[in-house]
Amino acid sequence: MLTERLKVVKNLVENSITALDVGTDHGYVPICLIKEKRAKKVIAADINKGPLENAEKNIRLNGLSDKIELRLGGGLIPVEENEVDTVIIAGMGGILISEILEESRSKAIKLKNLVLQPMNSQEDLRKYLNLNGYKIVKEKLARENKKIYNILSVRVEEDKPYEKESYYFLGRPENFDLNDDLTRQYIDLRRKQFEAVIKNLSRAKRNVEEEIEFYKEILKDTEDFYG
Ligand SMILES: C[S@@+](CC[C@H](N)C(=O)[O-])C[C@H]1O[C@@H](n2cnc3c(N)ncnc32)[C@H](O)[C@@H]1O
Repeated sequence: MLTERLKVVKNLVENSITALDVGTDHGYVPICLIKEKRAKKVIAADINKGPLENAEKNIRLNGLSDKIELRLGGGLIPVEENEVDTVIIAGMGGILISEILEESRSKAIKLKNLVLQPMNSQEDLRKYLNLNGYKIVKEKLARENKKIYNILSVRVEEDKPYEKESYYFLGRPENFDLNDDLTRQYIDLRRKQFEAVIKNLSRAKRNVEEEIEFYKEILKDTEDFYG
């Protein structure tokens, strides 16, 4: 039932009393969390009615309506402070994820664990987390077809500033399993993306020397992942 991406997401949830799945859509993650006893109860929330109805059907078919509660609403708005210990926000843009956390900061900073899976703008999300009292303790990767997704396991904890600006774009090497073949594939893919950015910038008519230097620096720092 779960895609590779969502399998990694749910695997990062452990020993939760009550978890909140923000933007649950189909409700597959809450269903697995209960089936695998990763959470005792899950609140499956979505800002749109259609996805919530979809989730309701799947939850009912799995006989889990007593363990998964559905709530209509955006971000962390549908829950009270301290009502949940874990929040999952997957399949949304990195900037939207940081806006959701900022909008409900008083709730977010009481969480035990956050599992965040940005579809884009991962550098903006990492920077937001680092500057706002969150620490990425682990990064996992999931490959689906030609795409590789980053899944971040986050705690509420002051963190030191990132040693290199490039790590906002790549992640901190120490957070990855550097012996994993998927990490190698991820870095190879990121290198290709930055090489393409540099190529495009070199064709630009405006002055882009500084930008090019910046991306070359990131390319150089990808070497930190190869040990
Ligand atoms: C692309 S789907 C991702 C579904 C699932 N989380 C996943 O990763 O497969 C995005 C879902 O988030 C919902 N959504 C978008 N913005 C939201 C917000 N601010 N708060 C809660 N749900 C939101 C959408 O209605 C949609 O069901």
